[in-house]
Amino acid sequence: MSQPTIESILQEERLFPPTAEFSAQARIKSLEEYKSLYDRAKADPLKFWSELAEQELHWFQKWDTVLDWSNPPFAKWFVNGKINLSYNCLDRHLDSDRRNKPAIVWEGEPGDSKTLTYAELHQEVCKFANVLKSLGVKKGDGVGIYMPMVPEAAIAMLACARIGAPHSVVFGGFSAEALRDRLVDAEVKVVVTADGGWRKDAIVPLKPQVDKALAEGTTSVEKVVVVKRTAQDIAMSDRDLWWHDLIQDASADCPAEPMDSEDMLFILYTSGSTGKPKGVVHTTGGYNLYAHMTAQWIFDLQENDVYWCTADVGWITGHSYVVYGPLSNGATTVMYEGAPRASNPGCFWDVIEKHKVSIFYTAPTAIRAFIKMGDDHPNSRDLSSLRLLGTVGEPINPEAWMWYHTIIGKEKCPIVDTWWQTETGGIMITALPGAIPTKPGSATLPFPGILADIVDLDGNSAGVNEGGYLAVRYPWPGMMRTVYKDPDRFRKTYWEHIPPQDGQYIYFAGDGARRDEDGYFWVMGRVDDVINVAGHRLGTMEVESALVSHPAVAEAAVVGKPDEIKGQDIVAFVTLEGTYQPSEDLAKELKKHVVGEIGAIARPGEIRFADALPKTRSGKIMRRLLRDLAAGVEISGDTSTLEDRSVLEKLREGA
Ligand code: WT7
Repeated sequence: MSQPTIESILQEERLFPPTAEFSAQARIKSLEEYKSLYDRAKADPLKFWSELAEQELHWFQKWDTVLDWSNPPFAKWFVNGKINLSYNCLDRHLDSDRRNKPAIVWEGEPGDSKTLTYAELHQEVCKFANVLKSLGVKKGDGVGIYMPMVPEAAIAMLACARIGAPHSVVFGGFSAEALRDRLVDAEVKVVVTADGGWRKDAIVPLKPQVDKALAEGTTSVEKVVVVKRTAQDIAMSDRDLWWHDLIQDASADCPAEPMDSEDMLFILYTSGSTGKPKGVVHTTGGYNLYAHMTAQWIFDLQENDVYWCTADVGWITGHSYVVYGPLSNGATTVMYEGAPRASNPGCFWDVIEKHKVSIFYTAPTAIRAFIKMGDDHPNSRDLSSLRLLGTVGEPINPEAWMWYHTIIGKEKCPIVDTWWQTETGGIMITALPGAIPTKPGSATLPFPGILADIVDLDGNSAGVNEGGYLAVRYPWPGMMRTVYKDPDRFRKTYWEHIPPQDGQYIYFAGDGARRDEDGYFWVMGRVDDVINVAGHRLGTMEVESALVSHPAVAEAAVVGKPDEIKGQDIVAFVTLEGTYQPSEDLAKELKKHVVGEIGAIARPGEIRFADALPKTRSGKIMRRLLRDLAAGVEISGDTSTLEDRSVLEKLREGA
């Protein structure tokens, strides 16, 4: 029940069309309508995107060129247009009934909750924007956000967007080390954090991690703003200020700054196969349009929907589909602080029942965890408000899909399986729920305007059901613009694996996929040294570097192995320095060390000590063999390039 295999996927022939009732009220109502939209966008993408930009968003000044692709792979969208994302998410909803409509419905883990209407959210954002200004934050200055899932996290993001200070949100589960790397790389001036957050009935300390991150050497950080959430004792220095003190005297008058369409909106770090996590740069106008349109059509947002995406704002899903996409559409977005936990395995269903959630978007790893907890929890709650479900983060296995469809969706809610990445800014391949019949395990078809394809390394399209690399043949508004301070890495990582063909640049996503006879995409998973643990992306090299930074470790090789809940789990093969001896205590210590270096999401499930690692004659670690060993399956494929065959025998014996 983990990752779908090619066999299981090729056997999957079930087709689930939306109900007539759903299609009738949907924004995009039929396959024909989708196809005609898709064809229109393909024939003239610039016309397609510019018409939507004009109809759907507020611009202080119109652009003069829709797309400047004269210097690929560096795209510019809506050149010279002036826009503000915070304005589009807030101010423009204030002249209508939306003024008093809930914008954010927040539910804290201990059971406290809060609702902010659009008028109230606007006021809070303006106040905090003025606070940032009073701390010396100017247009272009970096702001770090290291927060639990509380409304202040969204308020801080929107306040940054309002004054043109690019934010860099760091997931609250990352360690002080990982936080420091990101704050330093993004040249952050002010950090917004909280004393702590609630997770699984315990306090996750955040401010102490910020202190640790900033203690290790000089940084550009001048001030730290602290939200009081958990109220445990924390140290406050001259550098530190309480959110509630600052906000008290702040004026609620803060007009949105007209930003250039290509001004940087945020940096978000993500793992790759080499080196440190890269700072993915997104800019203002194109990102706003892409988050807006995808949220509207894919989640079929209607005026009375209560929409809940369970992602943390520390990930791109939280940026595009908790905060910016729904708010830009004037929707009600639910924010939940907690995680499914032993003390309340039904907590998600409680939130749905309490707030009458109509659209629910979560990850396959969460769905698999719910299956384990048993059907009684969802079955004993009223889930009748639900009309649409979504998933994201990794391939969903057909069994989990069927459970979601039956137990949560009561066989009436379409499921949108959405494929995308931090880099793409928004969803790329997905069903439009009223239009595209779904197949369990397939993300189905590309969003209008997205020229997705499966190709070989020369850029030739693969045939029906032939495996290949997931690629995109034309720019789109939500695409990342560069790797922060490293344009070369941007070019190498995404645009050079497949060389441009006749001057046409092709975006390389790093996923393997195939397309069936109906043109449906089946994403198989990463083709690089990136593993996907519970929907979170980790570079094997990052975990290896963390391991070798421990004095006991000589060499480390990290691979993923199939895991029933998380999709993949981390297995680390480790050789030891000099006098160190393998032991359970050492394995425990190494796991803890990785958590300290990166965060709990990177904790290896298993450490396997070895005398040596299998290498080729040129000294490359043969991960393919380690993957088979970790999974406990027969070693497949060629082992003739192995330098020393006895290494493999020993590793096998040790298993
Ligand atoms: C990688 C991107 C973008 C949201 C969350 C993750 C995998 C994502 C799917 C899906 C199969 C998926 C891919 C992709 N992925 N969604 N629906 N089906 N695989 O963002 O951390 O940037 O990771 O997640 O491997 O490349 P991310």
